[in-house]
Amino acid sequence: MRTVYVNGDYLPETEAKVSIFDRGFLMADGVYEVTSVLDGKLIDFDGHAVRLQRSLDELDMASPITKDDLLEVHRKLVRLNGIEEGMIYLQITRGAPDDRDFAFPDPETTPQTIVLFTQNKPGLADNPAAKKGMKVISIDDIRWGRRDIKTVQLLYPSMGKMMAKKAGADDAWMVQDGFVTEGTSNNAYIVKGNKIITREKSNDILHGITRAAVLRFAREAQMEVEERNFTIEEARAADEAFITSASTFVMPVVEIDGVPLGDGTPGRVAPRLREIYLDESRKAAV
Ligand code: PDD
Repeated sequence: MRTVYVNGDYLPETEAKVSIFDRGFLMADGVYEVTSVLDGKLIDFDGHAVRLQRSLDELDMASPITKDDLLEVHRKLVRLNGIEEGMIYLQITRGAPDDRDFAFPDPETTPQTIVLFTQNKPGLADNPAAKKGMKVISIDDIRWGRRDIKTVQLLYPSMGKMMAKKAGADDAWMVQDGFVTEGTSNNAYIVKGNKIITREKSNDILHGITRAAVLRFAREAQMEVEERNFTIEEARAADEAFITSASTFVMPVVEIDGVPLGDGTPGRVAPRLREIYLDESRKAAV
């Protein structure tokens, strides 16, 4: 039985409740973050806190908690639930007004909802999937135009995962106007020669916290990074490909739309970046 956090209280998960009028439930009017835990410590907490504030600002939502208190809540949940490896999920919504209404409620009278819970994932860093690599399919990107905001409207990404599953793959890369945007819950990369290629930051993709760290480590290791659009055809002809996210770190992609990349096993660059990312993130964990 997990202990979770709801609006200031630490409760057993079965006792934690939010209103049926909550804007997160009725309107997907909420933002979230997922922070990973390794060795019982938080990976990239600062990056996630900064992006959370940006998501809130972009949606004209106040923050119901300070950054320092947020860190304390994260740490306490890790402690109370004995998490060594796993994730912490955080969600903030515009709260629960008295009735359903499209207009935003008055923040003076409607307090926001904040919920955090842990996900215990022993073996997250030593994931055997990283040795094997994953298969992706391509699908149309029909999401809204502000994917840089980490909102809880995840229906299409969920549908994308199901399309991948049905096709015998692990995930889907979304394509807009011929160019890959990102994975359903991760950023997408290809490797050609010594060059790592990934879409530049814009409203079209989430600005991954793992992405920022991995690109920094890659450049520090003298790897060449090109932030530009790439087509799914270019991806299928790449030497290697991989994804990044807080829950997968760096994960090699070995097949796109049934076409194996190289010899169909993880190449040289993605496993190396995974190793660097895990090493450096563990050192900087809080
Ligand atoms: N997903 N792109 C999308 C659409 C995402 O949902 C995510 C994260 C990322 C990677 O961002 P980061 O490196 O900051 O995790 C990119 C989280 C893990 C999730 O929804 O579970």
